[in-house]
Amino acid sequence: MSKLLVTGGAGYIGSHTVRALLAAEHEVVVLDNLKAGHREAVPTGVPLIEADLLDEAAVRAAIEAHRPDAVVHFAALIEVGESMKDPARYYRNNTAGSLNLLTALKDFGSIPIVFSSTAAVYGEPDVVPIPEDAAKRPTSVYGETKLWTEHMLKAFDAAYGLPHVNLRYFNVCGADESGAIGEDHPNKTHLIELALLTALGQREKMMIFGEDYPTPDGTCIRDYIHVTDLADAHVLAVASLLDGSPSTAYNVGIGHGFSVKEVLDAVDRVVGTPLKREVAPRRPGDPARLVADSSRIKAELGWHPRHTDLVGIVESAWKWHSGHPHGFEG
Ligand code: UFG
Repeated sequence: MSKLLVTGGAGYIGSHTVRALLAAEHEVVVLDNLKAGHREAVPTGVPLIEADLLDEAAVRAAIEAHRPDAVVHFAALIEVGESMKDPARYYRNNTAGSLNLLTALKDFGSIPIVFSSTAAVYGEPDVVPIPEDAAKRPTSVYGETKLWTEHMLKAFDAAYGLPHVNLRYFNVCGADESGAIGEDHPNKTHLIELALLTALGQREKMMIFGEDYPTPDGTCIRDYIHVTDLADAHVLAVASLLDGSPSTAYNVGIGHGFSVKEVLDAVDRVVGTPLKREVAPRRPGDPARLVADSSRIKAELGWHPRHTDLVGIVESAWKWHSGHPHGFEG
């Protein structure tokens, strides 16, 4: 059993990972500013430090007080579109916030860190499925802020011996099988969440952003990774760092892509009624096809996704949304 600090542990992926870390018998402390996260998503008995990564003194105090064996760092702004409209906020929050955390980690004895990175660091890929050594050319400020943090981690490891694992997530979806926690972002932009909220009558129709992509049905293809499989990847990454493995990066996806239309078909099946659809223009910055080559994490950490059936993935999200139509507010 190790002591872990989880930044952003009250958020969507963070709260699922906290449960997986507890199940692996770790002791967990959450640090979250609760701007996007939810107090209700943090399990009873897990200490919650309400602090912002931009508050350098608060971050240092949390590390000093709890002296974690490792940190799992989720806390970040996550919207691609918003990052293009307000890059200052994104660089400050995601990159400068991470710098505060990394500085504290090196000052308190080079505490290892698992970093929540993204497929967005690759931008428009030359090769699909995308391997970890593919060119990094983010097409959004959001992707840039995550790539800069990867750069800082590399430099901190070289200079101060700060071990890290960058987990580059593809399209995270689904919810814990209990149905008690799930996606509830302040602004809804993700395909599956929007479709399920449409099924609940909270939106009139689903927009398909572009039907003229070079894909079999003309809509974008993404690799949909279930949040509990992603949480398992964090547990394995923590274990490898605690075992003294060298710093590295892993893609986390199922290695298979589904088109926007295939996702909407799966949603129709799960909710039992066809949602109204409308084809809209392409959304700026959307690559046609993003699919992970996750062979490295499978080979090195023995990770395997358990949820590869799209209908099953959507069902797990539906259990959460239908039970909590207004998210954590009820
Ligand atoms: N889409 C629609 N209609 C909608 C919403 C989305 O057609 O109402 C389409 C998008 O154009 C895209 C696909 O559905 O082709 C998936 O879109 P999401 O917004 O759900 O997810 P993204 O692929 O844009 O982005 C996600 C995360 C990012 C991360 C990226 C990496 O939100 O943080 O995956 O692959 F960087």
